Amino acid sequence: MTSGSNPHHKGTRHRFSALAKRVCRRMIGAFSVLCLCSGLLSADLHAGSAVITDKQIQARLALMRQQKEALLSLSEMMAGRRVFTPQTAKAARRVLMNNTRKIPKRFAKRRMDPNSYARPEIWVQWQDFEARAEVARQAAKQISANSVNGLRRSLPTMIQACHSCHQTYRTTPNQAITH
Ligand code: HEC
Repeated sequence: MTSGSNPHHKGTRHRFSALAKRVCRRMIGAFSVLCLCSGLLSADLHAGSAVITDKQIQARLALMRQQKEALLSLSEMMAGRRVFTPQTAKAARRVLMNNTRKIPKRFAKRRMDPNSYARPEIWVQWQDFEARAEVARQAAKQISANSVNGLRRSLPTMIQACHSCHQTYRTTPNQAITH
């Protein structure tokens, strides 16, 4: 009797290969989940916050990110990539005014973390840091949100104020998220 003609044997072989296929599929599945996780993780690392648990640092990062959203919205309206309406432009301006006003408060406590990009000089040259926050607040106030031309005139000063503080008090992780 050959194994081929033995139905029992055939069944065993079939069961074995089905099992092998299942194990294989599971491994591929696990592998792709792993890839996905490390992809997400590195994306979060770049955002600089997923691994930070300190509430004070989280709050200052949230404040900055909200400013970035507002500025992005205005820049896109200026460039014609987003529909301009005075209402949305004014709302974004308000976010920038409110948030830049809160910068000193959010950074008042000296908080460091290996995953934070804040330079310790902030708490050495505190008055200069505060002054830069004030310059940014003034620039936000000066944003002219009534027209696209107004944005063209006033946004560069705002962007410059963000940049100038980052250049001095933030190590540059990724240019793309600076503004
Ligand atoms: C007075 C200084 C100062 C000004 C003005 C300022 N920033 Fe920041 N910003 C910082 C510092 C310091 C950090 C790094 C904080 C950290 O990593 O703990 C930062 C971080 C950021 C981040 C990264 C947040 C993250 O999740 O890692 C963004 C985005 C950002 N700022 C946007 C802006 C925008 C947009 C403006 C202007 C409207 C602006 N900032 C104005 C000091 C400033």
